[in-house]
Amino acid sequence: NFTPNAFVEDCVKELQEKVKGDKVVLGLSGGVDSTVAAVLLNKAIGKNLYCIFVNNGLLRKNEFENVLHQYKDMGLNVRGVDASQRFLKALEGIEDPEQKRKTIGRVFIEVFDDEAHQIEDVKWLAQGTIYPDVIESVSVKGPSATIKSHHNVGGLPDYMKLQIVEPLRMLFKDEVRRVGKTLGIDDELLGRHPFPGPGLSIRILGAITQEKVNILQEVDAVFINGLKEHGLYDQVWQAGAILLPVNSVGVMGDERTYEKVVALRAVESTDGMTADWVHLPYDFLMKISNEIINKVKGVNRVVYDISSKPPATIEWE
Ligand code: XMP
Repeated sequence: NFTPNAFVEDCVKELQEKVKGDKVVLGLSGGVDSTVAAVLLNKAIGKNLYCIFVNNGLLRKNEFENVLHQYKDMGLNVRGVDASQRFLKALEGIEDPEQKRKTIGRVFIEVFDDEAHQIEDVKWLAQGTIYPDVIESVSVKGPSATIKSHHNVGGLPDYMKLQIVEPLRMLFKDEVRRVGKTLGIDDELLGRHPFPGPGLSIRILGAITQEKVNILQEVDAVFINGLKEHGLYDQVWQAGAILLPVNSVGVMGDERTYEKVVALRAVESTDGMTADWVHLPYDFLMKISNEIINKVKGVNRVVYDISSKPPATIEWE
């Protein structure tokens, strides 16, 4: 029987004994796991925890600024690094999804490594690895490990020569959330949908450009804010928009248009291994579709993805 209070108490003590007066570096992602890991470590070792939050330019609209603010308000010693242009440049012309993931993984490590090297005498690398990540990386045959190479598990190079500390490695997701609540982390942050490490890059089918990122961020924001406003966000496990690599004909006033198509996706799931599409209300879909087409320049058609996993996956790439 898991009790978050006892976990926090034991964990803080263990962390203090383990890292003593050493410096620890941790990569924050904006997600639940890395945030809870950071707050735990902050409680244990305070300013000896150095958090790095990298903007890869593929986050949701305004996410980097908003989440960085929240982190600072939580008292975390965090440095925000805007590497958007570096990622965008590295991704130029790449269409293959696995190549996108590898490129983003590589650039992330380069950026993180540059930053970590500026912290004098850092000894430990903390990660927000949770139990399902451990299992997934052990069972090489796990579907997502082989079908899509998720780069965020155990992805840092040996040459960093840091010892690893993973305070959440025995916990399931719901336990991580309960620990987060005990630690006083905001419900909104704890209830956030999962978001893939490669971000919007795998929701822009085909090659990535700044213009496409901008369009998708706008579309995604209309959809996600709509879900929140209509009380649907917490009923959905994960949601997002996909920018398709096709144009379709439309009509705007007297003009013929030839613009982008976006797909909306919302799924129910417990662990992401299987998923069902959510039967969002028609009225809601109608409203969101109108809002997207009216507000977002360059989009003239919205479709809703009604495929379940398997055989489809949650992401399109
Ligand atoms: P799929 O598309 O495989 O997604 O059904 C299952 C879950 O994993 C997320 N996902 C990723 N997460 N790096 C990540 O950190 C990735 O490369 C990646 N690809 C998919 C996806 O958003 C869903 O939650």
